[in-house]
Amino acid sequence: MKNADLLKIAASYGDPVYVYDSEKIISQFQRLTNAFSGVKNLKLNYAAKALSNLAILKLMNSLGSGLDTVSIQEVQLGLLAGFNPEDIIFTPNGVSLEEIEEASKLGVRINIDNLSILEQFGNKHPDIPVCVRINPHVMAGGNSKISVGHIDSKFGISIHQIPHLLRIVELTKMNVNGIHMHTGSDILDIDVFLYASEILFETAQNFKNLDFIDFGSGFKVPYKEGDIQTNVEELGKKLGDRFNEFCKAYGKELTLAFEPGKFLVSEAGHFLARVNVVKQTTSTVFASIDSGFNHLIRPMLYGATHQILNISNPEGRERYYSVVGYICETDTFASNKRINEISEGDILCFKNAGAYCFTMASNYNSRFRPPEVLWHEGKAILIRERETFDDLIKHQVDVKDLFAIKDIPKKEKVGIK
Ligand SMILES: Cc1ncc(COP(=O)(O)O)c(C=O)c1O
Repeated sequence: MKNADLLKIAASYGDPVYVYDSEKIISQFQRLTNAFSGVKNLKLNYAAKALSNLAILKLMNSLGSGLDTVSIQEVQLGLLAGFNPEDIIFTPNGVSLEEIEEASKLGVRINIDNLSILEQFGNKHPDIPVCVRINPHVMAGGNSKISVGHIDSKFGISIHQIPHLLRIVELTKMNVNGIHMHTGSDILDIDVFLYASEILFETAQNFKNLDFIDFGSGFKVPYKEGDIQTNVEELGKKLGDRFNEFCKAYGKELTLAFEPGKFLVSEAGHFLARVNVVKQTTSTVFASIDSGFNHLIRPMLYGATHQILNISNPEGRERYYSVVGYICETDTFASNKRINEISEGDILCFKNAGAYCFTMASNYNSRFRPPEVLWHEGKAILIRERETFDDLIKHQVDVKDLFAIKDIPKKEKVGIK
């Protein structure tokens, strides 16, 4: 997308605003598909948690993607977006048996990540095939908060518990048709991926009725120019060959599944915010924007870096700024970064704002969540409206006369539109 397009969108829909470029999503989907072209049955199940707007889900559906979901609500969103239930996999962590049964009733595939629920589910529904999530005890992922396949992680069934898992399968007579792992996000080194995959292949040999092996996700995308990214082409060749070899030995053409989130949508997203104040302190020049970690929490939550461009003054001389939000706690998007000279009123563009940005947004400080706009075939399409005051109080219950407060003004009187 060009700066001019983004500026036009900010002018039309106001700021802050999220903008997603469909062309980038489509090209990433095709890139990953092409990388694994050596595998006969490939299934990409888009991880809905990354960006779950219905328009994005429909776009994924139209590309032939399946859907990876982690809550019953994501399952329902997927069904609303027109996914066939069998193209949705439910991969929750630590949810109740009831929630898993609810998802199963909707016809989606079930992925179970602990022995307790596996046993309960198997006892009650031996005829419903399930996938099992294995924890391979591999340290992978960009940082500790997004590394989820190691020995201290709450995710998956430990590879050391496979004998127990097999006993449950045998006693309940349930059918395990898939085996899954997800070791973390932002995996830098494909060898780590390949190493964990070997563990999964070894584990898979214990199950005789598999239809698919799901290798999770964790593809690292670049966050700035020249940044390292997962070489999906090399991974596709190496893992693809190894998978084909495994299938031969297993005696069946299995499906190779992935559930990418970031890889498909991260780079497609742009978050646009306006600079309210440029404040020079004794040590720093702060650019304070009309947003905060209520809208984009990744930098504060796990130190994620989002490149920030001043699209109002792209040719201006570069100076050092700390870009901060308006939230009443430390709320730093970037510290001492070189950005083209910023004036109050300029629009800053946060790159890589497609994955885990809007979906992690909140109403903290009683702010409205921003609108979302899809840029598709050269046109801007509003796919979520900016919230209003009514959204903030929609579910609050009016206590009416519970407290003796006189003269509660009407909404209009306090400037609420
Ligand atoms: C089980 C599972 N699958 C897939 C993903 C998507 O990972 P990424 O966004 O790194 O592709 C996640 C992310 O948290 C996950 O927990």
